[in-house]
Amino acid sequence: MLETDELSVAHVSAFGWEKVDPAFRDDVLHGLAGPIPSIPARWLYDRRGSELFDEITRLDAYYPTRTETALLTRIMPQIVAALAPGLAVVEFGAGSATKTPLLLEAVHPAAYVPIDISGDYLHESAGVVDDAFHFPVFPVVADFTRELTLPAEIASMPKLGFFPGSTIGNFVPRSATDLLRHFRALLGTGSRLLIGMDRVKPVERLIAAYDDPEGVTAAFNLNLIERMNRELNGTIPPSAFVHEARWNDMLGRIEMHLRATRDVTFTIEGHRFAFAEGSSIHTENSHKYGQRGARLMLLAGGWTPVAEWSDPAGDFTLILAEAQPNRFAP
Ligand code: AVJ
Repeated sequence: MLETDELSVAHVSAFGWEKVDPAFRDDVLHGLAGPIPSIPARWLYDRRGSELFDEITRLDAYYPTRTETALLTRIMPQIVAALAPGLAVVEFGAGSATKTPLLLEAVHPAAYVPIDISGDYLHESAGVVDDAFHFPVFPVVADFTRELTLPAEIASMPKLGFFPGSTIGNFVPRSATDLLRHFRALLGTGSRLLIGMDRVKPVERLIAAYDDPEGVTAAFNLNLIERMNRELNGTIPPSAFVHEARWNDMLGRIEMHLRATRDVTFTIEGHRFAFAEGSSIHTENSHKYGQRGARLMLLAGGWTPVAEWSDPAGDFTLILAEAQPNRFAP
């Protein structure tokens, strides 16, 4: 990384001068220069992007959120029955306004630890939880894909990891298993993980969910162009790119791309890029899982599935898994 990264700043509308995350600059410059131009999906979620994602979760065509929430509500007694008392719930991500309270209200944990990269969101959501419930909340501001330490206060408590929303689907299998192994090391042998996974289904429904007629997902994807222009002194003409959702059947995933509608050149932080008409920037993956594939991925990550629930249509699955002591064949 360049030394000057530490000093890089950008003008941000009415808020004045704000520090730009050097990792964003790095990811964009390296990602766009690669053989398959791509930008890691996490950069879609700035304040505006998070607002737009929230709007996505309420779209008719976007089934995952409402399906998972209904499923979670229905199976909650079974989840609670499977868990030990006095748990610390550790959530990977800031927490959803509906799913998290649902779980916490039913589980009555001894502590709640939300882990999120954005301190703002974390303290807002932690505040809400704190006021409504009667257990301590220990927010951790961190990237949950990296090394981190859990608060000492929960050291002796049994732990339940919570990773809803099929966020795991953002990660390619190799990173997904790395992440699951990292969760296991963090939570420890004997801990549990409640994870949501979106299922493979007919392509038309998948495409509709990621290319809605209202154009909210398009706005969500195109917001990344505005963010690059604003924070990285970009000169990308927004009209030169359109949102595209593609099903990659070989890899079992929906891909979001920003596709060039014409030959276009632009600069980012002074670096020049050229895109030919029809070429694209790959901005997000959303992997979809078969029943056995979901279990196999958990096992590969060190988690043994112990219970599994799906909605009647089989659109979405919640799996409770356990970090069992290592056993060897058979
Ligand atoms: C937040 C990663 C679960 O993959 O369905 C929704 C993100 N992107 N529409 C998903 C997303 C476009 C979402 N996850």
